[in-house]
Amino acid sequence: MSAPILVTGGTGTLGKLVTPLLREAGHPVRVLSRRGGRSAPGVEHVTADLLGGEGVDAAVRGVEIVLHLAGGPKGDDQATRNLVRAAGRAGVRHLVHISVIGADRVPLAWLRTKRDAEQAIAESGVPWTTLRAAQFHDLVLTVAAKMAKSPVVPVPGGLRFQPVDAREVAARLVELALGAPAGLVPDLAGPTVYGMDELIRGYLGAVGKRRLLLPVRLPGKAGRAYRNGDNLALGGATTGSRTWEAFLAERLLQRVTAR
Ligand SMILES: NC(=O)c1ccc[n+]([C@@H]2O[C@H](COP(=O)([O-])OP(=O)(O)OC[C@H]3O[C@@H](n4cnc5c(N)ncnc54)[C@H](OP(=O)(O)O)[C@@H]3O)[C@@H](O)[C@H]2O)c1
Repeated sequence: MSAPILVTGGTGTLGKLVTPLLREAGHPVRVLSRRGGRSAPGVEHVTADLLGGEGVDAAVRGVEIVLHLAGGPKGDDQATRNLVRAAGRAGVRHLVHISVIGADRVPLAWLRTKRDAEQAIAESGVPWTTLRAAQFHDLVLTVAAKMAKSPVVPVPGGLRFQPVDAREVAARLVELALGAPAGLVPDLAGPTVYGMDELIRGYLGAVGKRRLLLPVRLPGKAGRAYRNGDNLALGGATTGSRTWEAFLAERLLQRVTAR
């Protein structure tokens, strides 16, 4: 049997989509997360904390390819440094990393950790590939649903997104992981750029809610970067084909049929 492919964050939104694709391609998978999961034929779950470093060496042992998808609101730089050190010790031959479009351009603390994580990988000595993706539809849906809880929804003016379907990101990551290390590859974004107001209106229309949208101004350097579109894919990016509207329709249909 071939060496398992390690998927850090394999229990998350993206990881849950990547694992079955690797299985379909005939590869055994080892999934790393803090909380773990139920192992199944061809899928072994291990627990490790990338931030603290506990369990990481054991998780990487015997692995040749790592898909690094674990992430959180804080500490992705440190978590990634711990992973690349362990990967170097284990002789990993390809480390594939998911990052975020704008990590190098938008001055937000969270995005700086993504940029520093990218740098740790690039300087690790382990052959690598990094894909920067736009926000997933799932994340936009979570944010829109939270914002729409309030009768008046403050919407930052000039804030635009190009959301992408997480299944398309998963498929691209698997393709990259099974190919040769390629460094920083073209960004992957969705097919359409929307204003935040359009995304919220799309959600409200789809769930049949009415809300008052109140335009507000995002302050500071980060606000300027967003208004400048620094979080959007530049020319040369790859675009997925599934739209926000198609995603919403599919999700709502799933909710109706689940009732
Ligand atoms: N969501 C988006 O719109 C988007 C867009 C572009 C890029 N990305 C990037 O894609 C990656 C995956 O995103 P996602 O939405 O799938 O995230 P998610 O659903 O929040 O999943 C995060 C995964 O990472 C694991 N994890 C978190 N901290 C960990 C730690 N310290 N040690 C070990 N495992 C840890 C979580 O499991 P436990 O909690 O059990 O540890 C979980 O499996 C992230 O790096 C994110 O920045 C996301």
